[in-house]
Amino acid sequence: MNDLDSLVQQAQADFAVAADPTALDAAKARFLGKSGAITQQLKSLGQRSPDERRTVGARINAAKSDIESLLEARREALRDEALAAQLSAEALDVTLPGRGAGKGGLHPVSRTLERIEALFRSIGFEVADGPEIESDFFNFTALNTPENHPARSMHDTFYLEGDDAVLLRTHTSPVQVRTMRAHVAAFGDRAHMPEIRVIIPGRVYRVDSDATHSPMFHQVEGLWVGENISFADLKGVIADFLRKFFETDDLQVRFRPSFFPFTEPSAEIDVGFMHGEMKGRWLEIAGCGMVHPNVLRHGGIDPERYTGFAFGMGPDRLTMLRYGINDLRLFFEGDLRFLSQFR
Ligand code: PHE
Repeated sequence: MNDLDSLVQQAQADFAVAADPTALDAAKARFLGKSGAITQQLKSLGQRSPDERRTVGARINAAKSDIESLLEARREALRDEALAAQLSAEALDVTLPGRGAGKGGLHPVSRTLERIEALFRSIGFEVADGPEIESDFFNFTALNTPENHPARSMHDTFYLEGDDAVLLRTHTSPVQVRTMRAHVAAFGDRAHMPEIRVIIPGRVYRVDSDATHSPMFHQVEGLWVGENISFADLKGVIADFLRKFFETDDLQVRFRPSFFPFTEPSAEIDVGFMHGEMKGRWLEIAGCGMVHPNVLRHGGIDPERYTGFAFGMGPDRLTMLRYGINDLRLFFEGDLRFLSQFR
């Protein structure tokens, strides 16, 4: 059966020169197709005797399966070649470092605010807020601030054009009165009105700009109103908060007499560190005092029955102290070299 052997050899040679799958299919058709060489051989079996049919048939089938294996081998070789060509064309350098997901992080002041909120929540305070565009009434009048007070001057406050009764709030204190009014509306008819215990974090605005002042900055207002709230409570809450905030007992808290129209008596709160770089320096971090009776009245609360304390602290300052930052403007410039250190 030289005939069949040479067919197999011919197929191998034809498959080898087929350079792509289409050429290979054409070569396959010449041997295994409907009128291919092997198919012809099988068809001619009919003219043979039964004996011959068996022996010759077996040989033809053997040649057919040889050709099929050769075909499959060539197909695989072509696939490998194509893959290798693609890989080298795309020149993918798998050793390059990844680009990374560019993770962001919380702004340092946001971290401080979250920390303050968590610490005050842990002693039963709620978190409230109020509008940044505020009326002259809530920002000043309801807070017992006289007409001629310097804070009301054009040099200190951003008034909205054309309407001098509307301004960007200069502090978070107006939310004290808003909170009292909402509280009275909700609980005022009860024989025992529940206490007000809130902190109010937010943005405030003043006409001021240098390394330690920004025209926009943050405050956290605190307000606790109830039947027997005293200055001692204020001192305890603040001292406790500061030790927890700075995670140290190595800290002194000083209440320095001061004045605000909306508290009486009033004080400025300073912290002093007993060791380290900051040793011997006092830093002012908040104003505070007992809520003035007129402010309670504006909030709808009877000052003969209820008393309260309030404070307003500067979380930007607290952040600078905690992380050792010396320029407030860094917080608001959006420079990633600075911000990415807090990821
Ligand atoms: N609102 C005051 C300020 O901005 C701070 C303060 C708040 C003082 C509450 C007393 C009570 O300076």
